[in-house]
Amino acid sequence: MTRKKVHDKEFEIYIPNAEIQRVISEMAKKLNEDLANKDVIFLGILNGAFMFASDLFREITLDSQISFLKLASYAGTSSTGTVKRLIGINEDIFNKTVVILEDIVDTGVTLDNIIKQLKGYEPAEILVATMLFKPDAYTKDLVLDYVGLEIPNDFVLGYGLDYEGYGRNLADLYRVIES
Ligand code: IMP
Repeated sequence: MTRKKVHDKEFEIYIPNAEIQRVISEMAKKLNEDLANKDVIFLGILNGAFMFASDLFREITLDSQISFLKLASYAGTSSTGTVKRLIGINEDIFNKTVVILEDIVDTGVTLDNIIKQLKGYEPAEILVATMLFKPDAYTKDLVLDYVGLEIPNDFVLGYGLDYEGYGRNLADLYRVIES
């Protein structure tokens, strides 16, 4: 079955899980080489990055830590929803090499917000590893240190990514069929 219906939208298989795993293995190899002898903590961004973080971290041979963060809307404000509070930092990241694990970088607004907040904890450096990147949608000039796959500006689903909260469990990556 190569098609899936989620709510009102139809999706087709775009990148099979085997290709995703191949890309992740390559990325893990680079990370293992580049970050040898560093004090590394991986920070997965929930919800979307849980699957990527799990598959990548299994192939990390560095003596390192992993934790997960989430962006939450500020309660009781009339905020536009663009500035969100980062919650879940309970490991000490001071002086460590932080590697942010993102499922997808689209406009880059989320990533920019995360990096700004993490800098306040004074890590030694902040690196970014993202499974997917949409260069045509990107509005920031932050360097993305490790990019799995560059994709066009289409809505994708699966491998941790959702549409209205559903579809995160799909092992393959799907893309929307525009009707
Ligand atoms: P950005 O702030 O525009 O870079 O968007 C980042 C967030 O938007 C990601 O962490 C995803 O949660 C969501 N997102 C962006 N593009 C897609 C997509 O194609 N499918 C599902 N979620 C997406």
